[in-house]
Amino acid sequence: MIPQAAARPFLLRDPEHFRIEFEINPWMATGSQPSPDLARAEWEALGAALRGAGGVVHTAPSDPDWPDMVFPTDTAVVSGGRFLRSRFSRPERGGEAQLAAEWLTGNGWQEIPTAGWDEAASLEGGDVLAFGERLLAGHGMRSTVQAHAGLAAAFGREVVPVRLVDPRFYHLDMSVCPLDDRRALVFPGAWDAESRRRLLELVPEPLVVTEQEAMTFCVNSVVIGTSVVMSACPARIGRQLEAWGFEPVVTPIDQFTKGGGGIRCMTLDLDLLAQGVPAVRQ
Ligand code: ARG
Repeated sequence: MIPQAAARPFLLRDPEHFRIEFEINPWMATGSQPSPDLARAEWEALGAALRGAGGVVHTAPSDPDWPDMVFPTDTAVVSGGRFLRSRFSRPERGGEAQLAAEWLTGNGWQEIPTAGWDEAASLEGGDVLAFGERLLAGHGMRSTVQAHAGLAAAFGREVVPVRLVDPRFYHLDMSVCPLDDRRALVFPGAWDAESRRRLLELVPEPLVVTEQEAMTFCVNSVVIGTSVVMSACPARIGRQLEAWGFEPVVTPIDQFTKGGGGIRCMTLDLDLLAQGVPAVRQ
């Protein structure tokens, strides 16, 4: 029997209805549509790479009304069998939170109520990462600081705010990728000065990526044990990861970067705070 707590479960949404129907981040252009065949092949390969690294991959259909649904990370924050549904800042994605909540409750997760949350609170899952015992939470582009108290209360963890200032890196998961409780890939150019100070103090061994490296979406990766599932791995980053004992697993998802999302955006972590738990191969 594999203990559930040691498994690293993820949810991927089928790419069937993925299209660029609006432009809500600087990467999206309605004139540049994904190829459905290539998108499906990349999505299948991503699932295989996650499984190969020891992840447990759940898949679910997407809905034609919500063409960004292939980025389910933004729809909820999930950990310990419970979840907070997102409060999207963009109406173009608003309905995805309800669809995520339906899938999660239908599969045994319990919803954490948000009654009493500030009206001004928005929260998108791409802004929430676990680093050691803490949650890191981006704000300033999509999520708002008003969500942080509720987020901390929901999971009983300290929330470290990170103010995002570069519209190209509009979710925190595009500028931070925790590797373990000491190390993380970081692109500090995406944060304001105070957040830089705070985060660089918090991460004892940061792997600071350049703007050019960050533009490859290499930070928007998924870590399973010592595997780092990435859409691109600049050589310098790969060397440092390997020196630290991590293995880059590269699986391109070029069709999805047309939507401004990378591998972490496509992969809803179903147990966010368990990230430090070693993966069990099945
Ligand atoms: N088109 C999507 C949006 O703009 C991409 C989501 C990327 N998600 C992420 N976690 N960075 O909302």
